[in-house]
Amino acid sequence: MRFPLILTNFKNYPSALGESAEHLAEIHIQAMKITGKQFAVAVSALDLRNIAGRFGNELPVFAQHVDDGGYGSTTGKIIPEEVKKLGASGALLNHSECRIGDMERLGKIIGRCRDAGLMVVVCAEDAEEGAQIMEKFSPDLIAVEPPELIGGDISVSSARPELIEESVKKIGTGKVLVGAGVKTGEDVRIAMELGAVGVLLASGVTKAADPGRVLEDLVSGL
Ligand code: G3P
Repeated sequence: MRFPLILTNFKNYPSALGESAEHLAEIHIQAMKITGKQFAVAVSALDLRNIAGRFGNELPVFAQHVDDGGYGSTTGKIIPEEVKKLGASGALLNHSECRIGDMERLGKIIGRCRDAGLMVVVCAEDAEEGAQIMEKFSPDLIAVEPPELIGGDISVSSARPELIEESVKKIGTGKVLVGAGVKTGEDVRIAMELGAVGVLLASGVTKAADPGRVLEDLVSGL
């Protein structure tokens, strides 16, 4: 994985599921070719096989969540080793819409992902939580996202620039992505200037009339 990184979380937006997920992944590949910058996507578990299988060689594909269940009697669990086998590069964990909560369980899942060869991006709601997770489990990256700004029109870069600085200070240089409301190259520019190594975003791309254009604009801030 090269840095800086723009990681798009497809969530369960209809524009980013099934066939639309394929289309959106192709748009990311196109943007990567045009700009030469690093993009990655986090897709629904239902789309992992298709998207990671088809595009995983060109575009890093992440699971939006994985569990600590192992093979066997673990109904409904998403198993990290299987995610890796499907061609995924990494896993997003502890997103504020899919909190793991329990620190011990989070540590176990991070360990499983690491052993399976998945890159781990753990979400945190503030700098303290991010620092605690980094200190305990050393995931590859922490994505700091203030929950109240997620899915909104005001970005973390414009509303909470001090949070970005504080996160980098507490969590570490080269370890912090930021997200929530990120939509423009200017949002990315501020985040990078304050020490982030990239952004995690969703609605700015998934709800855009022209996602390709948004991706190119985001890159202008790198
Ligand atoms: O995972 C990304 C995310 O929670 C931010 O969402 O829609 O504010 O970019 P959004």
